[in-house]
Amino acid sequence: MTEPRRNVELKAHDPEPGRTLERALAAGAEDRGLLRQRDTYFAVAHGRLKLREEEPGGSTLIAYERPDTAPERVSDYRLVPVAEPEPLRAALAAANGVSAVVDKRRRLLLWDETVRIHLDGVAALGTFLELEAVADPGSDLSRERAQVARLRELLEIRDEDLREGSYADALLTARAEPDPELVALARAAAARAYAPYSRFPVGAAVRTADGRRYAGANVENAAYPQGQCAEASAIGALVAGGGGEIAEVVVAAPSRELVTPCGGCRQRLREFTPADAPIHLADLERVRRTTTLGELLPLSFGPEHLAA
Ligand code: THU
Repeated sequence: MTEPRRNVELKAHDPEPGRTLERALAAGAEDRGLLRQRDTYFAVAHGRLKLREEEPGGSTLIAYERPDTAPERVSDYRLVPVAEPEPLRAALAAANGVSAVVDKRRRLLLWDETVRIHLDGVAALGTFLELEAVADPGSDLSRERAQVARLRELLEIRDEDLREGSYADALLTARAEPDPELVALARAAAARAYAPYSRFPVGAAVRTADGRRYAGANVENAAYPQGQCAEASAIGALVAGGGGEIAEVVVAAPSRELVTPCGGCRQRLREFTPADAPIHLADLERVRRTTTLGELLPLSFGPEHLAA
């Protein structure tokens, strides 16, 4: 089915998926079983584009547009069945870049023939519930809105649990939130910096995807050019501690100006850090700005260029 379609949708955090399942079954919903889905979102110019790989089931390319306003919202979408998901994913990733990957387990139920209920467990985000009333082509959407409102009552979805945006957005927001422990480590390192010549102490801390954290401080020298930046020290600690990909960086300095990594350190970070990992620039009171290596070092050169 590649014709444009429309849904009326609602998404909410679901603190008690077991209760929701009981309520849905009591309301007459049919259980269609468990699915495992991986959605790869591509960075595209208009709307959203994701490749859904589903088990059991197949793969589908989904292009959609939806205003991110709760509670009920209308989604316009197209579904394209995909026979060869891996090469398509690689081609779209190469052409557009990947903005997020969402892994979830979904229990699918069907209510009142056309309303899909999704009970989702989303990796790194938690448990959620979605309602999707699939609209007939000529519908003015009043029936679908009424269905969603009724089901919302039956499932007792509370106002405070409603969520705007996609899982991909939620993941990006969650990822952009600074890890407080990492911020504390960077500040502690800055407090121990050896910077008698510049009197400009800096601390840096990096976190790997598997949760290890390493910090470093700038280390100056009477022969000035031999000084080393905090980021370089933190990367040295990372490598000595087993290495790995950097998922998050904090640079902290007791400065009134925003302290950003120097050009050399941007390249050092480039070796270990994906373009979209958050880099938090902090002082002793707050994180003043969150950026990414892609923003700090566009059109950069990295290890994969040597492999090509
Ligand atoms: N410095 C860092 O350690 N990291 C930065 O991101 C900016 C600058 C150090 C180098 C030098 O010891 C002092 O700050 C003044 O440039």
